[in-house]
Amino acid sequence: MKIAVMVSGGGTNLQAIIDSIADGRITNTEICLVYSNNPNAYAIERARKAGVPYVVKSPKEFENRSDFNDALLQILQDAAPDLIVLAGCLVVIPEQVVKAFPNRIINIHPSLIPSFCGTGYYGLKVHEKALERGVRVSGATVHFVDEGTDTGPIILQKPVMIRQDDTPEVLQKRIMEQAEWKILPMAIDFIANNRVTVKDHRVIIEGYDPDALF
Ligand code: GRF
Repeated sequence: MKIAVMVSGGGTNLQAIIDSIADGRITNTEICLVYSNNPNAYAIERARKAGVPYVVKSPKEFENRSDFNDALLQILQDAAPDLIVLAGCLVVIPEQVVKAFPNRIINIHPSLIPSFCGTGYYGLKVHEKALERGVRVSGATVHFVDEGTDTGPIILQKPVMIRQDDTPEVLQKRIMEQAEWKILPMAIDFIANNRVTVKDHRVIIEGYDPDALF
């Protein structure tokens, strides 16, 4: 399976994917493209070091959003991935891209959806809101992308316990280490090995074992 990984920032999830392909936790998979909207994303450096093809294209290079959306679709269609992985991608995915890749785009979100998700919940904000609300458990979710924001079918979730002295930064890091870097590669491996089907907005994973997440 060929995957395109879309990034905007540090790229630690991209690194988890690169490392998992190298050590066999993800099988049957190659990265055909890393796309970044942000020319300064460290993720690009990670792609370069791993010898993976990458493209940087910022919406700022275009006169309007519609031209950017057309260019983005073209970039993705040229790479012809079987799966698009949003790994910290801050670009709103245009409807035409979602339509071109139905149930073939996945996203990692740093909370247990449907908590702390939707418009405005990205980056540190997610963790700030979780701490403000005083929840005792947060975590991460891998889900398919549909036309809504964080509304697509859920593939995997993993809980992470909150500590009373957590700051948004500390919680963000622990959720990455304990949840995101594990469930995102796992979801890709399941999809690459044809173990994932979607029926009535719910995901069925062949041979799913929740204990394997811990
Ligand atoms: C992660 O917290 C991810 O859940 C969110 O954006 C962050 C990306 O981090 N969607 P990185 O670029 O993978 O380090």
